[in-house]
Amino acid sequence: MKQSNSADSHITYDPALIKEASPVHFSALYWQKNNAIIGSAKGRGTTWFIQLEKLQGALRHYQRGGLFGRIIKDHYLFLGWSKTRSLQEFSLLNFLIQQGVHVPRPIAALAIKKRFTYQADLITEKINEAQDLVSILQETTLDADIYKKIGQEIAKMHQAQVNHSDLNIHNILIDANKKVWIIDFDKCAKQHGNAWKSGNLQRLKRSFLKEQKKRNILWSNNDWEILKEAYLVASAT
Ligand SMILES: Nc1ncnc2c1ncn2[C@@H]1O[C@H](COP(=O)(O)OP(=O)(O)O)[C@@H](O)[C@H]1O
Ligand SMILES: [Mg+2]
Repeated sequence: MKQSNSADSHITYDPALIKEASPVHFSALYWQKNNAIIGSAKGRGTTWFIQLEKLQGALRHYQRGGLFGRIIKDHYLFLGWSKTRSLQEFSLLNFLIQQGVHVPRPIAALAIKKRFTYQADLITEKINEAQDLVSILQETTLDADIYKKIGQEIAKMHQAQVNHSDLNIHNILIDANKKVWIIDFDKCAKQHGNAWKSGNLQRLKRSFLKEQKKRNILWSNNDWEILKEAYLVASAT
């Protein structure tokens, strides 16, 4: 990994994936001017898909959701460069890849300091031809083997002791080869012990239930049982 730092900004990037990285490369406007925006997705904010030299990236600006988010949208208290959300997510993604968990490769992370606060952005590799579970399940049901793979992927993440604090069905993607990916590791971290693990699963189940009510997704409790069973089997080995 390489760094490109100034007094008020820090960038960590993977030179194998991006040639150079300066603050301008984290601005959607820059990619727009270069005709390099190839799409977008809505989460808390907008994730921009961009065409890089060698691969496609997903550019995301860190911002808060909820009521508090409307007041302090995208400024976080600065407690040191290595503690910024973008640099934390960058290194957590690399750790997860080492552990064999299917997560996007991190390309570049930026943090910009403004007095006591900072703003942050992250570019990850775009997962090609992937859709999140919510969009898929609005169209079709998923086979048992996919639910099994989801359970197994979460088990891998938990064996690596990573607590995904926002494990919901918007953050699980399935690609054209039916490979399961977990994304969105903002605020997530390694954690000792096992007590927190069932909390991740409960949150995921609530997310299925919520979208069943809200968007009528094609999902049943039996699908959940398959996922959970595969999780438990994988966790025991
Ligand atoms: N690396 C990626 N590859 C493909 N799609 C992505 C990638 N990262 C994000 N997305 C899409 O953008 C959406 C929002 O990104 P996410 O990282 O979940 O941020 P947030 O939920 O905080 O807005 C995701 O639900 C997904 O559809
Ligand atoms: Mg998300």
